[in-house]
Amino acid sequence: MEKYGVNQLREMFLSFFETKGHLRLPSFSLIPQNDASLLLINSGMAPMKPYFKGEQEPPRHRVCTCQKCIRTGDIENIGKTARHGTYFEMLGNFSFGDYFKHEAIAWSWEFLTSPEWVGLEADRLYPSVYESDDEAWNIWHDEIGIPAEKIFRFGKEDNFWEHGSGPCGPCSEIYYDRGEKYGCGKPTCGVGCDCDRFMEVWNNVFTQFESDGHHNYTELKQKNIDTGMGLERLAVVVQNVDTVFDIDTMKAIRDKICEIAGVEYETDADKDVSIRLITDHIRSVTFMTSDGIIPSNEGRGYVLRRLLRRAARHGRLLGIEGLFLAKLAKTVIDESKDGYPELAEKEEYILKVITTEEEKFNKTIDQGLAILADMEDELVKSGSKTLSGENVFKLYDTYGFPVDLTTEILEEKGFSVDEEGFKKAMEVQKQTARNA
Ligand code: ALA
Repeated sequence: MEKYGVNQLREMFLSFFETKGHLRLPSFSLIPQNDASLLLINSGMAPMKPYFKGEQEPPRHRVCTCQKCIRTGDIENIGKTARHGTYFEMLGNFSFGDYFKHEAIAWSWEFLTSPEWVGLEADRLYPSVYESDDEAWNIWHDEIGIPAEKIFRFGKEDNFWEHGSGPCGPCSEIYYDRGEKYGCGKPTCGVGCDCDRFMEVWNNVFTQFESDGHHNYTELKQKNIDTGMGLERLAVVVQNVDTVFDIDTMKAIRDKICEIAGVEYETDADKDVSIRLITDHIRSVTFMTSDGIIPSNEGRGYVLRRLLRRAARHGRLLGIEGLFLAKLAKTVIDESKDGYPELAEKEEYILKVITTEEEKFNKTIDQGLAILADMEDELVKSGSKTLSGENVFKLYDTYGFPVDLTTEILEEKGFSVDEEGFKKAMEVQKQTARNA
């Protein structure tokens, strides 16, 4: 198997599906359009819900994309695991009432295993199906020729795809065995284990239901296919590296951080967490900014502010003193502009927004960190474990510390924050402002 780069793999995927009659569409914006159920686009299918429901005519009934996605649900894990990131790219092929299980399964297998395409070793791949989906099981077994003992049946938790409300359905995933050295060593370790050995690379969703978000399902007018393959995960497998932070496009950012901070990767475990966290967050920050999100204290803007300021603080932990995020954003742009021309077009704007926000925080971050350290000393002296709402509010209002940032810094040391007290302090300020 060749060691394809991330940009090559993206292109390969899209052109493979073009050969199967798909229309290649550019990534949709990270900002959902006409969808109040989502703050940010989190999967390839999310911007196309009306096509799945048959409410809107798609430009073609077969399309493929590489979609920019943000998921912040695992934000606490970022930097600590091999495969979590807030930003990732999802490769997807979609059928809106056109082909269904047979083609979707056959093409996923062909793309992954054919020597003309990715050429992964078929022996290392394990499909899974939804527990009662005999049809999918039979396709894997009879049409693709996978031995019965290598096809797994899993329940709703693993093999039924839904995100809030909207189109959803049972799915069939493909796992890649990266080898024993990545295993957790538990006797139960196997396909479906949460450790880093069996990595889920592809998800074929047979989208045939509509969920109201409360586990009530109705049959959609048409049967659809929604597939998702994390480009970064595919690159981990193809490039045979340990983590998503070691694939070519991510390594370039990682190296730049080390250069700016004057540190070496893999010499200090805590610093490595900071390096990986910044590598991930700067990608989210760059792409969110390029889609027109502006740092603020609410909604998407707050997500952006939180990620940017979190990265800035981890820069401090690495000993970086000045502004550095725009330099990293430039690396993100250079690495990804092949796939996302909007990055190059808006480069100046992106760097300016990031610099302005970083400058704002830079003025208060050191003072804020010093004051937070004093507050921690006070907590230790008083024997309390919880920082008062007024103090959390002071850090937020005067020093620009998003409440989540204060919370996580304190949690690292075994403290918590009085969230209710913080909300009350916010309310009082809003009321005072209104009265004034
Ligand atoms: N929508 C499916 C996923 O995100 C493909 O995994």
